[in-house]
Amino acid sequence: MPKQSQRDLTEVLLSSQKLYKPSKEIIKEANVRDYDKILKQAARDPEKFWAEAALDLHWFKPWTKILDKSKKPFYKWFTGAKCNLAYNALDRHIGTDIEKKTAIIWEDETGKTRKYTYLELYQEVNKLVNGLRGIGVKKGDRVAVYMPNIPEIAMAMLACAKIGAMHSVVYAGFSATALADRINDAKAKVLFTADGSFRRGKVINLKDIADDAVKQCKSIKKVIVVKNNNEKINFNPKLETWYDDFVKGQSMEAKCAQMDSEDPAFVLYTSGTTSKPKGVVHVHGGYPVGVLRTIKWVFDLKGDEIFWCTADPGWITGHSYIIYGPLLAGVTTLMYEGMPDIPQPDRIWQVVEKYKVNVLYTAPTLIRAMMKYGPEWPAKHAMPSLKILGSVGEPINPEAWKWYYKYVGKNRCPVMDTWWQTETGSHMITPLPCAPLKAGSACKPFPGIIADVVDKKGKKAPTGKGGYLVIKNQWPSMIRTIFNNPERFIKTYWKEIKGVYFTGDIAFKDKDGYYWIQGRSDDVLKIAGHRLGTAEVESAFVSHKAVVEAGVIGVPDPVKGEVIKAFVILKQGITASDELKQELKTHVRTTLGPVAVIKDIAFVEKLPKTRSGKIMRRVLKAQELGLPLGDTSSLV
Ligand code: PRX
Repeated sequence: MPKQSQRDLTEVLLSSQKLYKPSKEIIKEANVRDYDKILKQAARDPEKFWAEAALDLHWFKPWTKILDKSKKPFYKWFTGAKCNLAYNALDRHIGTDIEKKTAIIWEDETGKTRKYTYLELYQEVNKLVNGLRGIGVKKGDRVAVYMPNIPEIAMAMLACAKIGAMHSVVYAGFSATALADRINDAKAKVLFTADGSFRRGKVINLKDIADDAVKQCKSIKKVIVVKNNNEKINFNPKLETWYDDFVKGQSMEAKCAQMDSEDPAFVLYTSGTTSKPKGVVHVHGGYPVGVLRTIKWVFDLKGDEIFWCTADPGWITGHSYIIYGPLLAGVTTLMYEGMPDIPQPDRIWQVVEKYKVNVLYTAPTLIRAMMKYGPEWPAKHAMPSLKILGSVGEPINPEAWKWYYKYVGKNRCPVMDTWWQTETGSHMITPLPCAPLKAGSACKPFPGIIADVVDKKGKKAPTGKGGYLVIKNQWPSMIRTIFNNPERFIKTYWKEIKGVYFTGDIAFKDKDGYYWIQGRSDDVLKIAGHRLGTAEVESAFVSHKAVVEAGVIGVPDPVKGEVIKAFVILKQGITASDELKQELKTHVRTTLGPVAVIKDIAFVEKLPKTRSGKIMRRVLKAQELGLPLGDTSSLV
């Protein structure tokens, strides 16, 4: 059976009793009004459901087959069709009323703002497309993007998609080594970066980090640098160009590449159970179908909304619900580059009020951080514009859900707890605004998705009992492969339990069929909603000269969900000290980047292992949390 749940089960069980029914106004307005009916209807023929959803997009040439299973698990959707992700997100709005609408509102921590209409964004993207074509970027090439949350990141992504080159966005909280590993795996030709970004008033010099990475990457032929905060940076004019110079004088018109529906649109690296991250591949055809249908239904978009997803474009949430989703839907996306509590703990609520945000989509860790400041901060802001709230990235505990509902949504905005993954591309288990909600539950699978909770043999788990969360059918925005590693794709997702997609999560279903996600069943960590592999962190420790071996685990944290604790064996003759602990923490942070915050380090003589030499992190964790050790028969 899966590992012990991290969630407070008593709180969850109590919460599973109470239903938060949608108000009459919400139902009257909703794109979908009858929850049970739509679920039943889609379940009768999911392929038909998704094919209907695909009609919301533009296809240069229609498909001949909706779903091709002939080479499973390399499933193909909408085969025979021609399309383009950027065309659907941008070009098709030009010449319609949408072109005058604001596509992007941007604000940074210091209060600077910029806005782009759809037409302006289209023109900016075209200039970049022409610039990139001018340096030889073409269909199938890879382009790395290492940038803060600024409009140019959207432009870079859209320009790549328009050409048919794959973007590989690397979260700006990753280190030079992590960036270099990802660039080298994808053999990216071009790198987009910026001089810097502000965080808590401090400047992060991204360009220095990018420079260190590029030294290790032979494939990079050009680095395009956005002047974001006028930092003094090293500049090598042979390799580098300022973004503004790169687009200067370029034409504002550019031809869009007509792609096969199954042509890859982007690769996004995510952590798995080994130290090497996986390059998750998404495609031009199916990905936008999943993203558009979910954003429209889960957040009830009509077309005139201001949509704010507080994630970073460097993660899948940012790809799907900061950039592509809102643009596919023709609404306004808000990009905020900064911390939610600078200069004061009400910054986030102030931004909601200032821009009249209609949908706020954030992570439980942020909600819990705001809870610590107290409800008086959201109370300063009326926020009548808010219509729907969303949560993503990790399980939301019922207490945080209720706080969000009461103090932010003022008891009137439904909270959509959306469960999904980098690999799924778009929401998988989530309520719709017309559904009765339970505080802390992601509700039921989205229409057209068939999920279940099963044991290792694939047998349905009894109601209320934990098991492996699996997806039993296929969906358009599903991962197509792992870049350069199809064997790992098969092994990770399709071999664990026969015939189904293995999510790696554990969950249970309650008597009403509501899903309660409990966390990962594998060695993937979720630190403040950010995904990191234990093996990645361990190999960062081992790369320090004082360390022989390390085992790391996630331990529960009231704000971050999980934090990292490391058990470290030192080389002979090295003395354990607090200074060394600090040095190791800094070393891991430099190796992996600021995402890898180590809470605690314990120096140990031995680590619990199996006979084959694998560290039993489960045993470390049970010891740490004072839980039963479980099955230790393989422990040496
Ligand atoms: O464990 C689940 C957790 O985040 C994992 C996916 O991480 P990533 O690929 O980084 O994507 C995060 C944003 C989609 C899942 O396997 N997770 C995500 N959303 C939820 C969640 N756990 C519980 N509830 C959620 N709503």
